[in-house]
Amino acid sequence: MRAVEHYLDQVKSDIDALLDSLIPAEDIEPQSLHAAMRWSLFAGGKRIRPAIVLAVGEALGGSRAELMSTAAAIEMVHTYSLIHDDLPSMDNDDLRRGKPSCHRQFGEATAILAGDVLQTQAFKTIAEDGLLTADVRIKLISLLAAASGSPGGMASGQQLDLAAEGNVVPLEEIERIHQQKTGALISAAASAGTMIAKGTDEEFTAIDKYAKKLGLLFQITDDLLDVTQGSLELGKTAGKDASANKATYPTHLGIEGTRELAKKVRDQAINTLAPLKGDSEILSGLAMFVVSRTN
Ligand code: IPE
Ligand code: IPE
Ligand code: MG
Ligand code: MG
Ligand code: MG
Repeated sequence: MRAVEHYLDQVKSDIDALLDSLIPAEDIEPQSLHAAMRWSLFAGGKRIRPAIVLAVGEALGGSRAELMSTAAAIEMVHTYSLIHDDLPSMDNDDLRRGKPSCHRQFGEATAILAGDVLQTQAFKTIAEDGLLTADVRIKLISLLAAASGSPGGMASGQQLDLAAEGNVVPLEEIERIHQQKTGALISAAASAGTMIAKGTDEEFTAIDKYAKKLGLLFQITDDLLDVTQGSLELGKTAGKDASANKATYPTHLGIEGTRELAKKVRDQAINTLAPLKGDSEILSGLAMFVVSRTN
C-alpha cells in the first residue's frame, strides 16, 4: 500500500471515531433528524478534506490532536453540502456514497434540516475546541464561514453551477465555478492546517497555491469520473453531468483532453511544494491520489 493510502485509512478511522462522538446519537430526539445526519456522514466518504487538514498541519510540525476537531468540522460542512447538492431542487440525485441519498431515505424536509444541523455543528465544534486558543478558533470559524458561503465560497459556486446548467460556458467560467463549489473548502482545509500548525507567511503562500491546484484537480477528476465510471464504483449516479447539461471540463476538452489537463494540474500542485522544508511526501501523494482515484 502506498504511504498516502495508508495515511488516508488511518485518518478515516480517527476522524470517524471523533465524528461519532460529536454528532447526536440516533436515540436522542428528534431521532429521524439525527439518523439522517448519521446516514449521510457514515455512509463511507473518502475523508479527503480532513486528510488535507492533518497532512498540511503535520507537514508543518503541528500536532494531530490540535488538528482533529477542525478536520472533523470541515467534513461536517462537506457532508452537508453533499446532502443539499443531491436535493431535487439542486442535482436531484438518488444515490450518494453507495446508498440512497438523504432525501430519498428520510424525505426532503429532514434532509434539508440534517444538512443545516451538520453545518451548525461544524461551527460549534470549532468554537468549543479546548485545545486551541480563542484567537485561533475565531480565525478558523471566519475562514470556514467564508469558504462555505458567498461570495466566493461553496454556496456561491453551487449557485453558479446551477445557473450554468444548459448554457455554453467558457472554460474560464468553468474554472471559476469549480474553484468556488469545490476548491474553496479544500483551500480552507489546507489553510486551517497551516493556521493550527502556526505556519510562516512563506508556508501559507506555498500551501495556498498547492490547495488551489488540488481543489481544481479534485473537481476536474470528479467530472472525469462522472463520464468514465459506472454508478456502482462511484457510489453516485454516473453520467449525471451530461444528463443535467452541467458545465464541465469533459464537455469542452473531451475525455483525453481533460485527462491531459488533470496531469498538468497534478504536476503544478506537486511543484508548489518545493519551497517547503519539511517532509511533503503525503501532500504530493494526495495530489497523486486525487487524480488516480476511482470514486
Ligand atoms: C464529492 O466529493 C463532491 C465534490 C465536491 C466533488 P468527494 O469525492 O470528496 O465525496 P466523498 O466525501 O468521498 O463522498
Ligand atoms: C458538488 O459538485 C460540489 C459540492 C459543493 C457538493 P457535484 O455536483 O459535481 O458533486 P457530485 O458529483 O454530485 O458529488
Ligand atoms: Mg452539483
Ligand atoms: Mg451533484
Ligand atoms: Mg460531480
